[in-house]
Amino acid sequence: MPSFAGKVVLITGASSGIGAETAVEFAEAGCGGLALVGRNKENLDAVCQQCQDKGIPKDKVLGIIADMAKEEDVQRIMDSTIQQFGQLDILVNNAGIGGVKYLGEEGIMQVYDSVMRVNVRSMLQLTQLAVPHLIKTKGNVVNLSSVCATRTLPMMVTYNMTKAAIMQFTKCCALELAAKQVRVNAVNPGSIWTPVHERSGRADSVIETAKKVHAMGRIGQTGEVAKAIMFLASEDASFMTGASLPIDGGRHAMCPR
Ligand SMILES: NC(=O)c1ccc[n+]([C@@H]2O[C@H](COP(=O)([O-])OP(=O)(O)OC[C@H]3O[C@@H](n4cnc5c(N)ncnc54)[C@H](OP(=O)(O)O)[C@@H]3O)[C@@H](O)[C@H]2O)c1
Repeated sequence: MPSFAGKVVLITGASSGIGAETAVEFAEAGCGGLALVGRNKENLDAVCQQCQDKGIPKDKVLGIIADMAKEEDVQRIMDSTIQQFGQLDILVNNAGIGGVKYLGEEGIMQVYDSVMRVNVRSMLQLTQLAVPHLIKTKGNVVNLSSVCATRTLPMMVTYNMTKAAIMQFTKCCALELAAKQVRVNAVNPGSIWTPVHERSGRADSVIETAKKVHAMGRIGQTGEVAKAIMFLASEDASFMTGASLPIDGGRHAMCPR
């Protein structure tokens, strides 16, 4: 893994799952500063502590309690990051929520609004705010899309739509920013074992289903996504932009028969 020395990394959704693991791995890799965003203070504090345990100094880890659904909070995320570190090198747009509703079910429009707001609108706003800083550092962005961007899970129309939008967003940003030497890529995970599945109340069935729907016969682990995020954010991916990398044990290539 190339050096992240001196690089300031901003990660949304860092209080849990993939975002938390990515934060700890960037800390272990010796990055220059971490701005970590979440709503749950207890969880975010714990992740900040884990990062310090990996050797990053306390003043180089900034926990930001913010709600991605609120425009003023998203603005505050960027303001506090720049105030603390004076620069931004890597933005990991990871915060996201699901939304299980089928067509015709009551409440689907409310779910659409909240899922689009958190998964897509806030990503656009935060990236927009990050652009001037990323141009200065010739930095890069990694967005969290999903296998759901290209494969279709029933009853998840709103979530699937957001993840497809994120793939297109990634390509649009990549083309707009390429001439400024700012790269923008995405990862498309399959089912990854995180608290999102623990909370679902059907953890066992998620693990069993994962064995069938991934060619490799198992659910993925957060570290497997974190390592791909770090690769895309690193100099090893210096000629990659606009890509959406499947991290899904082959699920994107499967076809029911
Ligand atoms: N796990 C999977 O199987 C899987 C597969 C494909 C893609 N993904 C994507 O990967 C990303 C991370 O998922 P995960 O499984 O790690 O989920 P997770 O464990 O539930 O973590 C989600 C993170 O997003 C944050 N978040 C959610 N809504 C927020 C809001 N309104 N404001 C601020 N932060 C908010 C949460 O913060 P708080 O808890 O502090 O509120 C938490 O840190 C998501 O974009 C997800 O769609 C996951």
